[in-house]
Amino acid sequence: MQVEDIKKEFNSTFDTTPIIVRSPGRINLIGEHTDYNEGYVMPAAIDKEIVCAIATNNTNNCRVVALDMKDSFEFDINSFNKSDKGWPNYILGVIEQFQKKGLEVKGFDCVFGGDIPLGAGLSSSAAMECAFAFGFNTLHNHNLSKLEIVKMSQAAENEYVDVQCGIMDQFASVHGMADQIFRLDCKTLDFEYFNFILDDYHLVLCDTQIKHSLASSEYNTRRKECEQGISVLQKHYNNINSLRDISISQLKKHEKEFDPIVYKRCKYVIEEIKRVIDCCELLIKGDLIGFGKNMYKTHEGLSKEYEVSCTELDFLASKAKESNMVIGTRMMGGGFGGCTINIVKNEFLDQFKEYMTEVYKNELNLELKTYMVKIKNGTSLL
Ligand code: GLA
Repeated sequence: MQVEDIKKEFNSTFDTTPIIVRSPGRINLIGEHTDYNEGYVMPAAIDKEIVCAIATNNTNNCRVVALDMKDSFEFDINSFNKSDKGWPNYILGVIEQFQKKGLEVKGFDCVFGGDIPLGAGLSSSAAMECAFAFGFNTLHNHNLSKLEIVKMSQAAENEYVDVQCGIMDQFASVHGMADQIFRLDCKTLDFEYFNFILDDYHLVLCDTQIKHSLASSEYNTRRKECEQGISVLQKHYNNINSLRDISISQLKKHEKEFDPIVYKRCKYVIEEIKRVIDCCELLIKGDLIGFGKNMYKTHEGLSKEYEVSCTELDFLASKAKESNMVIGTRMMGGGFGGCTINIVKNEFLDQFKEYMTEVYKNELNLELKTYMVKIKNGTSLL
């Protein structure tokens, strides 16, 4: 439906013939705040995506319609500045990356839209960057690899949008594979797919619908705290570059030299990196219950040690766990709002959604949204 609407809008607005690109949002099963510490993450692309109809128009003018926002933006491909509207910067940032590499992007017409809820921590911004990077690459036959598309999209977010995110979101949007989750080694960028067929379960996201304003400043603070931790450890271990290179026993040995807060942060990260590795083994054995137990531990660590959770996320995670309708739950993504991810037993699917919505309303007087998600392929042409 969404695709048809986008095509229809394109045809009634422009007289060029577009290619259609889709790029999905992401979930992350385990491995949170580990990507910028050169650790492991375990994400997947989901069935919520940005769809973009785009065509070159033989001018220097770029005309973009954001269908869902009922908004539009025009600019010259050779001379543009950051936009106050916000959303165009994801596109401008990507174009800037092409231009920095000396890769031409010609004037274009575009209509885009999608069904990734905004601000819910499902990486709608990464999906948008990847959709445009993929689109420009295809339109101009630049032959960029998937990895180059990922890196340019991440660089657009870091340099133009000024969000210091790691590589996970863009990587997941591009490399997702249906019914599989993958373990990405954020140090080497090697990755491996694992079957994630949930015969007896469903993945359900509970959206707090909250985004605390602390989110981006605290994200940057966590990055700095991790760097502080590394500099303490580098006095003892000269060949380490990140928390990835440190074991928990090495950390514990030097506890007294740490600021207690920095110590907690490092402990969480090192344990979380280990949990991802353990979870891969559990998946190979088909032990989803064991996998879910690790998700509980991740939530505990994110809440108490890394301190990126919030009342609403803690509430949803604890209610879900107590309900016995799930085998795993935790907050997902950067934190301070967004969603919890839940592995829900099939027989309780409807009951779970109703129960969570009801308790969230009754006890916090807030509206909950729930999304049942399926794991899909990464960025592609339609
Ligand atoms: C955000 C960032 C990611 C990652 C997560 C936390 O989603 O964009 O790079 O750091 O937070 O795991």
